[in-house]
Amino acid sequence: MTAPSFVVAVDGPAASGKGTIAVRLGRMFGLPVLDTGLLYRAVGVLTDRAGGNPDDEAAASDGARGLTAAVLDDPALRTRGAGELASRVAVHPGVRAALLDFQRAFAAQPGGAVLDGRDIGTVICPDAPAKLYVTATPEVRAERRWKQLAGQGETVEYADVLADIRRRDARDGAREAAPMVAARDAELLDTTEMTIDLAADAARRIVEAARARWEASR
Ligand code: C5P
Repeated sequence: MTAPSFVVAVDGPAASGKGTIAVRLGRMFGLPVLDTGLLYRAVGVLTDRAGGNPDDEAAASDGARGLTAAVLDDPALRTRGAGELASRVAVHPGVRAALLDFQRAFAAQPGGAVLDGRDIGTVICPDAPAKLYVTATPEVRAERRWKQLAGQGETVEYADVLADIRRRDARDGAREAAPMVAARDAELLDTTEMTIDLAADAARRIVEAARARWEASR
């Protein structure tokens, strides 16, 4: 029998703070962390580089099959354009299916793991003992993303970043395949008024409580 793993699912929209929270939780609880958005970003960028149309399921599924671990370190995946490409390839069930086994295998590591994304608590790991849904207003998220992009040397108007965020929220929330939605048993964490330290602390308390319940039930 394999040892049960303590999986922490961290879902939520772009720039809600979920990525930083996931990394901090990984450090606090000694668990490996997977940023699943990077997988979709990589598929989007690979599809685009191959001259494929990201809105075409067959082309995007080819991109998914070409994915290697090395691609995930490419700084091009962190750009604004890659986020948009990711959200376009992420609507295709074939792309999502191609990425499923990798994510589930990561989650099944002995001891557990933290995964952040859009559908971790609903589709990838519906039985995760700890689930968070991290949100913030679109305006605050756009400001955070705008500062992050500026820090990476990408010059862009705040209004354009806000429009990107709204467009991605709408596409990710409305798609049929694994739409972005809070799992019924997820704890909501609204970080609009929080510093990242406060948000990470609130997340730690949620996960500590979940871990205590999980241990008591084993
Ligand atoms: O989290 P990040 O902004 O890097 O995600 C990029 C895009 O990848 C999202 O807008 C979403 O369309 C897609 N995604 C997804 N499911 C995940 C993670 C990301 O559909 N688990």
